[in-house]
Amino acid sequence: MSIHKKQDVKKITTHQLQEMKNRGEKIAMLTAYDYSMAKIIDGAAIDVILVGDSASNVMAGNETTLPITLDQMIYHATSVVKAVTRALVVVDIPFGYYQGSSGEALRSSIRIMKESGAHAVKLEGGEEVKDSVKRILSAGVPVMGHLGLTPQSIFKFGTYSVRAKEEEEAQKLIEDALLLQECGCFGIVLEKIPAVLAKKVSSMLSIPVIGIGAGPDVDGQVLVMQDMLGITQEFKPRFLRRYADLNAIVSDAVQHYVSDVKAKDFPNQEEKY
Ligand code: KIV
Repeated sequence: MSIHKKQDVKKITTHQLQEMKNRGEKIAMLTAYDYSMAKIIDGAAIDVILVGDSASNVMAGNETTLPITLDQMIYHATSVVKAVTRALVVVDIPFGYYQGSSGEALRSSIRIMKESGAHAVKLEGGEEVKDSVKRILSAGVPVMGHLGLTPQSIFKFGTYSVRAKEEEEAQKLIEDALLLQECGCFGIVLEKIPAVLAKKVSSMLSIPVIGIGAGPDVDGQVLVMQDMLGITQEFKPRFLRRYADLNAIVSDAVQHYVSDVKAKDFPNQEEKY
């Protein structure tokens, strides 16, 4: 049996993601927020791990992504990075840590990169974050954009429904996507927009476009891990495919354990010192 050391593994880089787009190989991306799950998905050959600010919802139980802090994101990212040998680790800059100025955006990105060891950052928005994107990139930090449904602006939108269905918003999204590419982003997430629009953006852009609820004609897909594993039960958007029902599996296992303890069946004679 060979033991893989960290340095033996061929790591995914932003350049490799670009090559994947160029040769038509789809990019698989999932979120992770902790060491144990990141280790499992990295070992299962995921290309990109997003330490998303969705941690605010799925890890901390908040209704939106707004409350999570930069320190909390760095805590999650540090745990993920320790587990990863292959995937590219991208970290969301949380709400309130980049909108103030490009200097603030740069300082937040530097903290993320320095303290967690992550490989790239992601932020939401187009034209309005252009200066921040350029400033972060000038420090050598790769940046991923995020357009369409941008959950940090939920109180502006009012709902989590499909974005850019109207011509005017679709046109703005296309312009923002082209601008982010021009600024130097290595990729863009498109969330919950019509599949036809996502296809158009993906073919117009030379950089990888990763979709969530954006249909099949993009360069890769991203899902929140807790959603695709069936841990979260109440969230059921049309775009979500559940690959497991971990909620039921964990619940069954815990009920079994509780009944074994109550019945004095656990631990048995072999399960003691
Ligand atoms: O925070 C997150 O999980 C995300 C994905 C939905 C793309 O930004």
